[in-house]
Amino acid sequence: MTQADIGLIGLGVMGANLALNIADNGYKVAVFNRTPDQTDALIKNAAHLRDQFIPCYSLEELTAAIKAPRPIIMMIPAGDPVDQQIAALTPWLGEGDFMIDAGNSSFHDTNRRYQELADTPFTFVGMGVSGGAEGARHGPSIMVGASPEAYARIEPILKAIAAKHNGEPCCALMGPEGAGHFVKTLHNGIEYADMQMIAEIHEVLSKTLGLSIKEQAEVFAKWNEGPLASYLVEITANVMGVVDEESGKPILDVILDTAGQKGTGRWSAVEAHMLGVPATGIDAAVAARCISSQRALRQEIAKVYPATDKPLTWEEKQTGIKACENAMIAGKIAAYAEGFDVLTAGSKEYGWSLPLGDIARIWREGCIIRSRFLDEIASAYDENPELKSLYLAPSIAARMKEAVPYLREMLAKAILSGIPVPALSSALGSFDLSRQKRTAAYVIQGQRDFFGQHGFERTDKEGSGFHGPWPAGGA
Ligand code: 6PG
Repeated sequence: MTQADIGLIGLGVMGANLALNIADNGYKVAVFNRTPDQTDALIKNAAHLRDQFIPCYSLEELTAAIKAPRPIIMMIPAGDPVDQQIAALTPWLGEGDFMIDAGNSSFHDTNRRYQELADTPFTFVGMGVSGGAEGARHGPSIMVGASPEAYARIEPILKAIAAKHNGEPCCALMGPEGAGHFVKTLHNGIEYADMQMIAEIHEVLSKTLGLSIKEQAEVFAKWNEGPLASYLVEITANVMGVVDEESGKPILDVILDTAGQKGTGRWSAVEAHMLGVPATGIDAAVAARCISSQRALRQEIAKVYPATDKPLTWEEKQTGIKACENAMIAGKIAAYAEGFDVLTAGSKEYGWSLPLGDIARIWREGCIIRSRFLDEIASAYDENPELKSLYLAPSIAARMKEAVPYLREMLAKAILSGIPVPALSSALGSFDLSRQKRTAAYVIQGQRDFFGQHGFERTDKEGSGFHGPWPAGGA
């Protein structure tokens, strides 16, 4: 039997679909799963791709089935399972082999594993993969953390299976160590903000304009033909159009209002804090998922603070819809700006030189946050690779100037009506703060010096460590 070109461990939904994708691209794949049933199920359902697979039932069998040097992808849950899998696989690997962690691992773990495995004869690669089950099957966006030499060896197969944007594969080298997983984490941070902002706009459309979910499905489908064109807007329209077979109601009316989270959104927010970068839209999106989970507590608080009776609205329905569309545009830009700010800061902090333009380019297809708008971001970084903030790119500034007044108007109505809009309002708050020539932080400096002699700088003199002539009670 001819040997496989590549191995894949972990045949859950993502792993099985990735295996089928690799096979579909003409590669022979040796597959292994901890529980053999899933290996058998993949082979049984592989149809015409059946001969492209070598089912293996031990790591010894798996490694023997692959041509050396062996690339082996692990698509398994992040955390301890990855360390356990690495320990189990290590004895079977030799010179030039590749162990590729394609799960949603924390980039700190990937950095650690990269160091721990530096002296082994094989190469460890951390790889971010986005696109859900469909993406894994037909072309995900792939963010690789590896040395340029290691990347060059696995690049052909990764580019073959990646999504294509105008024929260009959505796969690129992000940098060494955990760079690939870092970029994937921020992808998910932006994903969280984008999803939360869409949910907020939905609530505004429902409560201020009284639009039914069915009507909103049409609104979102229409928006998907304009500047908001994106996978998340498209699927929101699709989800809104689905009717629950049991109750006959729109499915969204019967889905419980508690959102799950596996950790990548939170990691983005934590990392933003650690790097000292404001990412308040992402932060608020994570908090909103947490509040959504506190269902019982919300019921109690809701009794004490019942909803405002009559939300403010627009005179014309179309005016309100236009305001919401533009509010979403401004929010989306803010979510990307925050994500790219964290990427920029992480790139400096970890010395990775992340290719920001390439990141925008490989997110244009395959991944969950793919959107038309990423073309503009890629161009912005092409024009100025040293761009300090997306808000400074002329094309983005033009869009923000047009869209922000609508966001303000929409938020004002929502906030006065008690409609929760935490991600959109937090993102706008940071944007507003970041465009101030003089913030109110002088008040904080005065307070800090008053109670703790922390010192301040003056606007009219050089130097630092000045103190105020505080009255009694001041330090
Ligand atoms: C992707 C997704 C994928 C997964 C998220 C969901 O890019 O394909 O982001 O990675 O759907 O991890 O995360 P939550 O369970 O935290 O929403």
